[in-house]
Amino acid sequence: MNPNPKQAPEPEQAREQPQAPGAGPEEGAEPYDATPFLPKRGRLPAHRRAAADCRGCPLHREATGTVFGRGAPDARLMLVGEQPGDREDREGVAFVGPAGQLLTRALRDAGIDEEEVYVTNAVKHFKFTRDETRKRRIHKAPSLRETLACRPWLAAELRLVSPDLIVTLGATAGRALLGPSFRVGADRGVPRPAPDPGEDGGKGRGPALPEGVQVLATVHPSAVLRARDADRERMYAGLVADLRTAAETLRSL
Ligand code: URA
Repeated sequence: MNPNPKQAPEPEQAREQPQAPGAGPEEGAEPYDATPFLPKRGRLPAHRRAAADCRGCPLHREATGTVFGRGAPDARLMLVGEQPGDREDREGVAFVGPAGQLLTRALRDAGIDEEEVYVTNAVKHFKFTRDETRKRRIHKAPSLRETLACRPWLAAELRLVSPDLIVTLGATAGRALLGPSFRVGADRGVPRPAPDPGEDGGKGRGPALPEGVQVLATVHPSAVLRARDADRERMYAGLVADLRTAAETLRSL
């Protein structure tokens, strides 16, 4: 076992290309935006119902449906992943596929009761390409434009659940909440106060986070699943170590 599991490689970083705001092929493109689809009032169930009809970006066209967050509506701990996978898309429930099963095990090993957490994603529709046979759907990381489009849903979940601590899983969630310069390898495992949303009210960086909330970044469970056999155990240990830090942080708040 690697004595320092937090130094595990981060395959997800190789898979996802960081995108600076306004840079690359999205430059000049009109922003996508879920805002018009949000209900003016209501709690999580009202938002879940409204999200089912979201057309804020083109991802709804290919996906089976919107996958909203699930879990305790007053959770002190919120976990934020990237986007639903194939199984989540078919079942309409976040984190029920292989990554979700690994997350369930890691939470248990870290001493966190999954019944007490709220689990969601930065992007609420499954983005994928098809393999040559057109039978298999292959995960494709959401673009910055799609992630920003979906941010109002995440902001609403944060406001309504009002957690004390957010754990971001992987690069997309980290960038959605901590800004485009976020890197999992450099920024993981340390709880920090949510960034100041700045003069633009958070538009350029992430949703305006509930006051006083802490954020702790870790790897995505899919990165553990994708790791080579030799790396998988230490990456899993790193994920559990970060979740234990999350549990300790919650106890101290
Ligand atoms: N990966 C995610 O980021 N979220 C899910 O719900 C499933 C897999």
